[in-house]
Amino acid sequence: MGIVISTVNMKGGVGKTTLTVNLATCLAKNHGKRVLVLDLDAQISATLSLMSPHDFAKTRKKRKTLTYLLDSIIQPNPYNKLTIHDLICPSICNVEGLELLPGDIELYDEYLVSEMLHKQAIEQNATDFEKIWNYFERILIQDILDPVRNEYDFIIMDCAPGYNLLTRSGIAASDYYLLPARPEPLSIVGMQLLERRIAKLKESHQAEDELNIHLLGVVFILSGGGLLSRYYQQVMKRVREDFEPHHLFQNSIPMDVNVAKAVDMFMPVVIGMPGSSGAKAFAKLTEEFLTKLP
Ligand SMILES: Nc1ncnc2c1ncn2[C@@H]1O[C@H](COP(=O)(O)OP(=O)(O)OP(=O)(O)O)[C@@H](O)[C@H]1O
Ligand SMILES: [Mg+2]
Repeated sequence: MGIVISTVNMKGGVGKTTLTVNLATCLAKNHGKRVLVLDLDAQISATLSLMSPHDFAKTRKKRKTLTYLLDSIIQPNPYNKLTIHDLICPSICNVEGLELLPGDIELYDEYLVSEMLHKQAIEQNATDFEKIWNYFERILIQDILDPVRNEYDFIIMDCAPGYNLLTRSGIAASDYYLLPARPEPLSIVGMQLLERRIAKLKESHQAEDELNIHLLGVVFILSGGGLLSRYYQQVMKRVREDFEPHHLFQNSIPMDVNVAKAVDMFMPVVIGMPGSSGAKAFAKLTEEFLTKLP
């Protein structure tokens, strides 16, 4: 069974997508792993970091995005015949083993989800709507991944900032989560909020099979130098007091303009500019990532 990992932080713009696509690429390119990237964010940043807007537009026109699979669950339709296998794009950026299930700018309609679950509650004569909702959350992403879980070494999901249905469902389907963070007070608040939310998520699923999700580690995305970096060191010290040492990656990612520029080339920096400091840091982080897994 492939290891399922979600990249999460309540805070936006901390480097979730950049970490997802570069880690996935290094795993496939440098370590020969079979990796599937799932874009759970309607901003489609992971998708557009791995394929051009032109290719995405063509894919979306054919309805070959995650939305198709979500629709098949939320509004089942006998004409929906495609499976997840039909939607996955192979050899992304010409890297063998790197595959992508493209995301979409319109993923699901919350009203339709509520309506469907409400109907289910009536059919089942259920009085506990929360239970129905929790069950749906638990199986949504899990059911989508089930047919392909054996085919990959890793499935990595790029989650949206905040804590929406797909993030919760993605976390519930994961074995581990990665927590990228900038060493800034508000980013740390984002980490603490997430930790609390995940503890609560585990509690709400206690009645069923217990959720077996673990923090694989916090990855620091550093910025600036000089005085600023001394300040960041202080903030990181605070994080070290909050988290156990094995929950922190030793390797961090420096700010490197090449990382941002690579997005313009629709490929991760580890392919576009492998000699850059950012790319080298992602390659080293990937090695550490592999040592952290049992
Ligand atoms: N190491 C880095 N060096 C330079 N720029 C970076 C680095 N990491 C990320 N960036 C840039 O910072 C911005 C935010 O990064 P990213 O999109 O990965 O964050 P995110 O947490 O996924 O954001 P969101 O919450 O909106 O999904 C992007 O423009 C990205 O290119
Ligand atoms: Mg993102």
